Amino acid sequence: MIIAPSILSMDFSKIPQQLSEVEKSPAKWLHVDIMDGHFVPNLTFGPDFVKSIRTQTSLFLDVHIMVSDPVTFADVFIQAGADLITFHYEALEDSKAVLDLIRKIKSKGKKAGLSLRPATPIQLLFPFLNELDLVLVMSVNPGFGGQAFMPEALVKVTMLKRQIKLMESQCLIEIDGGINQDTGTMALNSGVDVLVAGSYVFKNNIGEAIKNLWENQSH
Ligand code: DX5
Ligand code: ZN
Repeated sequence: MIIAPSILSMDFSKIPQQLSEVEKSPAKWLHVDIMDGHFVPNLTFGPDFVKSIRTQTSLFLDVHIMVSDPVTFADVFIQAGADLITFHYEALEDSKAVLDLIRKIKSKGKKAGLSLRPATPIQLLFPFLNELDLVLVMSVNPGFGGQAFMPEALVKVTMLKRQIKLMESQCLIEIDGGINQDTGTMALNSGVDVLVAGSYVFKNNIGEAIKNLWENQSH
């Protein structure tokens, strides 16, 4: 299991302190939400911000791009220091364009992930499972931190897990939105590999919240 605290909910006046708390914890990834004010109704970080985070931490940078032009921005954020780029199926939809972008990200030595909104059927992502490193199942509508977990996401996780096994794919399953200790346990029981948590981690004691998520895996 991997924990990916989402910096969307950080206190931006204390970035170095909070990064060092994450580094002392069992969390190995940092989830970075890029929003363009078009694909989602919110606007977040640009490449210079991600470059700065990159210089401040050696955590694996899990960059989730909620943008209408993932082809341009995948490159921009790879150059800024992303280790993994996850883009949205809905931003491209055309199978060839999706596959081309997955391959382009991987050709730069980075990992490639594909995400989908709660309303998008999970089966649409199955044709890409042999090429993907990760599928990010959204358990809230993308755009904002602090929303309530949508339990329907667990049905998608179960179906996805079954398909990954069937295809003998190495693809990881990540879940994002409304994750806390309880919903994290449900997600892990359904087959999730990577838990993203924003407000649960950064609006509480960072070390304790991550420890609570980490201890879920033994239950
Ligand atoms: C929402 C983002 C999430 C967000 C999760 O669109 O993709 O990564 O940070 O925040 P919480 O954990 O507060 O739901
Ligand atoms: Zn995210």
